[in-house]
Parts: sequence; C-alpha cells; structure tokens
Amino acid sequence: MNREDFPILDSQVNGRPLVYLDNAATTQKPLSVIEKITECYLHHNANVHRGVHFLSQDATELHEGARRRVQRFINAGSSDEIIFTRGTTESINLVAYSFGEAFLKAGDEIIVSVMEHHSNFVPWQLLCERKGARLRVVDIHDDGTLDMDSLRSLLSEHTRLVCITQTSNVLGTVNPLEGIIREVHQAGVPVLVDGAQSVPHLRVDVQALDCDFLVFSGHKIYGPTGIGVLYGKRKWLDLMPPYQAGGEMIEKVTLEKTTFNVLPYKFEAGTPDFIGTVALAEALDYVDRVGIDRIAAHEKELLDYATSQLNAISGLKIYGESAHKASVISFLVDGCHPYDMGLLLDQLGIAVRTGHHCADPLMQRFGITGTVRASFALYNTREEVDTLVRGIDRVAGMLR
Ligand code: ALA
Repeated sequence: MNREDFPILDSQVNGRPLVYLDNAATTQKPLSVIEKITECYLHHNANVHRGVHFLSQDATELHEGARRRVQRFINAGSSDEIIFTRGTTESINLVAYSFGEAFLKAGDEIIVSVMEHHSNFVPWQLLCERKGARLRVVDIHDDGTLDMDSLRSLLSEHTRLVCITQTSNVLGTVNPLEGIIREVHQAGVPVLVDGAQSVPHLRVDVQALDCDFLVFSGHKIYGPTGIGVLYGKRKWLDLMPPYQAGGEMIEKVTLEKTTFNVLPYKFEAGTPDFIGTVALAEALDYVDRVGIDRIAAHEKELLDYATSQLNAISGLKIYGESAHKASVISFLVDGCHPYDMGLLLDQLGIAVRTGHHCADPLMQRFGITGTVRASFALYNTREEVDTLVRGIDRVAGMLR
C-alpha cells in the first residue's frame, strides 16, 4: 500500500531489495514529510514565539498549527493539553519528574505492567527510589495478555498512578484500555498510557479512552526523529511543576523569583523543535490521507498471514498470542540464537530487530534473553512476508 511514497523502500541491501520489517523501532518517511522539512528550512525558518518580524510569526503559526493538528489527531479537548517533547521517553520522564514532585511521597505506590518498554519502567523505578515509594508490577498470562486479576490485586489506597502501554512493542498485545482505565479510575487513580506502539496503528481518542496522560513519538508514525507528544488532562498539568527551566516557560523573572507561563509553554523550556512539529503534522496529514482504519486493516491482514506462515516453520515459537494484536511478531526458532538469525536475515536484505527490545522484565518473565521481531507498517506486503518466511527457513537450516 502506498509504497511509492517512501523512496528508501527502493534501496538494495547486500545486493537484495530491502525488506524493511523493523517498523516498531522506527518507520520510514514519506516524501511529503521529507519535503516538508526542506520547505521549512527554505521558507519558514525563524525562532517561534519570539519575534515581531514576518518569518517568526510565520514559523509560530505553523508550529501552533501543528499543535492543533496533534490535538485533532488524538481528539484532545484543547491544544493546551498537547506538550511537545523529544519523544515518548522524554514525555514519560517529564511526567515521572513533575507528577512525582507534586503527588508522590514515601509509602505511595506506582503500578506498571511487566510488558512495559524500559522507557515506561525505569523512570518510575528511579522516581520510587528517590521518593521512598514502591513500584508494583502487573503480571501477564503466558499468551501475552494482561492479567487483570493481578492488576486488581495491586490497586490500593496507596496507588498514585498506573502506567501502562496500549500496545506491547514485543508481544504486539493491544491492552483493553477502556475497561482498565474505567476500573482504575473507580479506585480514584489516574492512568498514563504509552501510545508509542499504538498511535501509528489504531485510532486513538484520548477523550473516549479517558486516559489522564498519553505519550507517543513522531518517528514511529512516519514523522521525524526527535519530536514527540505528551497529552495530559489540564486538571493534572495545571497542578504539576515545570520539568525543565529556561526561556519560554517563564511568565516573569526577577532576581528573587520566577513565575511560570501558561499551558502548554510551562513545560516547553527552550527553543522547541518547530521544524519537527510541522513535519510531524505533515506525517499525521499523511496518515489521515491514507486512512488509519485502512492502515489498521492492511496491517491486520499482514499480521494474520505472517502468523500462519511463521507457525508452519518447524521449531518456531511466537511470543504474544493475544486475539487483539498490533502488527508485531516476536519469535524464536529452536537451535538459532536471535542475534545470528538477525545477522543472516540481513545478508538477505531483510531488516528485523533482535534482542531484548528494551523490555528486560518481559524477557525475564518468559525466561528468555531475546527474540527476533518482525514488525509491519502500511507499506509492507504479503510478498515481503513470503521473503521473510523463506529467509527464516534458509537461515534456520544453516544455523542448525
Ligand atoms: N522502542 C523501539 C523498539 O521497540 C526502539 O524497537
């Protein structure tokens, strides 16, 4: 689907046509996004929010238009609730620092799940260490679905925040967030959603979900690197202190004291990546032009096809068998180290990711050190799945 929009997909790697199946790590960029970056530098480059001159106002309008674009994409109630960051990791660190400063004390608890990426695990672990609080970890079932009884048993009057991914970057599991958030809210606890692996693949509506925070990265949704989003409900953001200090986040600075800017600028110290925000908006336009529901349907078809083809390979085990999965397949093949498998697949032009996928607690839960992971985007094809399957067969033959 729309392969011609992605120039890099015509590349040859090791003398073979590139088969790019590492989309959960980062997606390729359509020409419109690449051209938007050049266009901004050629015609719209000046620092935002700072100048009375034409170019500065022009850049500011584009940058703030990008914020409204993100707001519409995830259906936030207000563009003031959209904070631009460097990516998912920085968004979570912002909340861990700022929410932690405002609301966490010794003896409190934060809940995460064992399927979290390190970026939704380590910031909470460090925060708990700093505050004398306790990190509680929700277990999963062997099929990679969340253990709701485990979550219920951990929720208590000590819980201050639940942090959970919408889609696992390893298992592909799509967690049933609407029900989870409803239950957690009934206990009076807010929820942070890691949307890094979901926003590019399914329609996400923060008001329908009723999540308190949602984070995602631009580069995983066909946008540039170095730009990401934190959505937060105003009722929390208003009460949270600034994360970083500097220009832009202030209202007034005197020798004695500084007062802070309004939302969203309170959390955006320094010159923002205004080229990145405009290119991210272009990526979201692109996704809307193709249609997120069409993308989801295409990726589901690829996932189902790849799953049945891979399951036919003897000695291959897939990790993550939820009925509701995104287009991510992690697997191991008997007698083959994932790293060797990845290296040899690369010789065939096939890009997959190998290793722990920044999810060590999950690896420990399954008693493994890593997997091979193939992850699909809108431009992947059934023919590429066939190439992958033939490649695995061939490599497994060599390694055994
Ligand atoms: N978080 C990215 C991945 O899962 C890098 O590959």
